[in-house]
Amino acid sequence: MNNAELYQKSNTLQKRDALQCLEEYVKKIKWKYDGDRVIDIGCGDGSVTSSILKKFLPYNYKNLVGCDISEKMVKYAIDHHATDRTNFSVLDIEGILPDELRENFDHAFSFYALHWIKHQE
Ligand SMILES: C[S@@+](CC[C@H](N)C(=O)[O-])C[C@H]1O[C@@H](n2cnc3c(N)ncnc32)[C@H](O)[C@@H]1O
Repeated sequence: MNNAELYQKSNTLQKRDALQCLEEYVKKIKWKYDGDRVIDIGCGDGSVTSSILKKFLPYNYKNLVGCDISEKMVKYAIDHHATDRTNFSVLDIEGILPDELRENFDHAFSFYALHWIKHQE
């Protein structure tokens, strides 16, 4: 799960399912419509974050942060998908949340990632 080049060529299923999931549930999301801050946990190569999730956010979202335990995935995501309001950072969601991420998001998404986490709590 470290080869971003290979992953972005073979994640058609993940993209399809993320799209289907968002289409089904986006109506239930209570956006603030006032600078929503969004995190995508286990973002991988960043393609779902940037080409799918981002399209469902309110136009005036404040920031979208993709995070992943893999430095290689995050580097690829930064190189290919970072913009002024979309960024990526290395994070092990099983570990201690750094201060800059704590209480800094209004919405958390995760696609095909949380089943990797042993310590769910
Ligand atoms: C199947 S990929 C899904 C990537 C993306 N969400 C998508 O739908 O295409 C799972 C990702 O979870 C990440 N991951 C696994 N354990 C993690 C952890 N403890 N913290 C953060 N990310 C993790 C992996 O590095 C991998 O990039």
